[in-house]
Formats: sequence, C-alpha cells, structure tokens
Amino acid sequence: MKEYKIETVLHIYEIAELSKEDRELVEAAKSATAGSYAPYSKFHVGAAVRLKNNMIVTGANQENAAFPSGLCAERTALFAANAQNPRQPVVALAIAARKGRQFLSQPISPCGACRQVISGTEERFGQPIRILLYGTDGVIVSEGISPLLPLRFVDGNMN
Ligand code: THU
Repeated sequence: MKEYKIETVLHIYEIAELSKEDRELVEAAKSATAGSYAPYSKFHVGAAVRLKNNMIVTGANQENAAFPSGLCAERTALFAANAQNPRQPVVALAIAARKGRQFLSQPISPCGACRQVISGTEERFGQPIRILLYGTDGVIVSEGISPLLPLRFVDGNMN
C-alpha cells in the first residue's frame, strides 16, 4: 500500500489587497446577484467571468419548480460567455452569494457539477482559470480548478 497525499493551496485576500481587475470582477459578481431567480432557496448567487480580451460576462442562479432543471450562477455565466465568445479563453471567474441583502461573510465555493464545468473550460482553452470566492471577511483565490477538484476527469483520461 502506498499513500498519495494531495495538497491544496489557496490564498485569502482582503478586498483591498486584490488587483484592480480582480476587484472589478468581484464587484461584477456581486452586482450579478440582482439577476438571481431564487424563489425556492432565496439564496442569491452571482458569477462573473473575465475573458482574455477583458470582456466580463455575468450570470446568476436560475431556479425552477422542478429543482434539478435550474442552474447555478457559475454555469450560467460560463455557458453564456462561451456561447457568445467561443474563441475567447476564460481567464478568471468570481462568485458572490447573499441571503436577502446581506452578502455572506464566508465565501461559498462552486458545487461539484460547476467544478467539472470549470475544469472542462480550462481544458477547452488550455489555460487555468483564476477563481475568486467572495466573502465580506475576505476573498479566497484558487489558481485554477485543480486545488478545488483534485484527481479530476479530463479528456486525456479517455485516450
Ligand atoms: N448555487 C449557485 O448558484 N452556485 C453555487 O456555487 C452553489 C449553489 C445556487 C443553486 C440554487 O439556486 C441555490 O444556490 C441553492 O443551492
């Protein structure tokens, strides 16, 4: 038997420590929560994607009476960005969530399905996506999806 250790390295920043670009993306994710349709959970999530050409595309969670038919903010934003700009690599993704008007102090991190889609988007464009998880106490930054999704399934596994 061998032991295989997986190390996860994340960085936590105060808002003021972020670059102008990252702050702008976090603000876009916060604003995007206004587009959330969450009559069931009342949990409003916004996501903002930065493309290589610096365009920002946002999304918000969209719920449905048939619960699994709804979609998270992250995939709403990524799919919209890719559908509208299929040749523009995604370079960063920011996520913000609030209950009522209050943004959460501790950041949320993407669900498993969204992590897989972020992974697929990295594979598609051949570059890591900087992930910013906003909380009022600080912003957790993951350099690429790998720290959040170790041992992930990628195209190469099928060859
Ligand atoms: N949700 C997101 O949009 N992103 C996440 O990272 C976690 C959860 C949404 C899905 C659903 O509309 C609500 O939050 C409660 O799960």
